[in-house]
Amino acid sequence: MKITHAELSKSAVRHIQYPKDELPEIALAGRSNVGKSSFINRLIQRKSLARTSSVPGKTQTLNFYQLNHSFYFVDVPGYGYAKVSKAERKKWGPMMEEYFESRANLKAVVLVTDIRHEPSNDDMKMYAYLKYLNHPVIVVATKTDKIKRGRKHSHLNRTIQLLDLDREDTIIPFSAVTGEGKEQVWNHIEHYLFS
Ligand code: GTP
Ligand code: MG
Repeated sequence: MKITHAELSKSAVRHIQYPKDELPEIALAGRSNVGKSSFINRLIQRKSLARTSSVPGKTQTLNFYQLNHSFYFVDVPGYGYAKVSKAERKKWGPMMEEYFESRANLKAVVLVTDIRHEPSNDDMKMYAYLKYLNHPVIVVATKTDKIKRGRKHSHLNRTIQLLDLDREDTIIPFSAVTGEGKEQVWNHIEHYLFS
């Protein structure tokens, strides 16, 4: 998909601050620093609309990016970062639960994992939670530019096994650096947004 218009419309920590126009949404989920914001930038071909950082914990609010005036990507703070203060972590749970459990126009969740590593306990919990809520999930195994080609297949299979990936869900190898997987990801996202 060609993105001709992109803007950060809202940063929210509570339901009352979410956009009210009822456009369909795709949300990101994943460990802190895994590459969620970089994923958004690569998909929409903007270098730094979504703020990224080599320091974990960059994204701290739900950020609603409106695209082509027709849908949103929702960038979400990552989980599993130990150095975030206890007070911050306490806020994170309710903020995420309120979003994932109440957002009617959420069409699918992109769960970003790191292709170099096995899914963490938090990744497995997150996937199970999203399935419990009946959200379709696209697993994006990112940073393929960091592993040897030959190892990709076994990494993907291991992730499928450990997450216990549903038959309706899909896993796509991806790199924000090379753009690998971008077209395939868009095909799935468009399917969930507009069908
Ligand atoms: P939080 O907002 O802290 O939850 O992090 P995030 O998941 O949004 O991660 P972000 O996109 O900020 O990326 C974290 C780091 O990983 C940055 O240094 C990125 O440049 C790097 N990175 C992200 N995607 C890729 C990728 O596909 N390949 C490589 N080599 N590096 C990547
Ligand atoms: Mg981020």
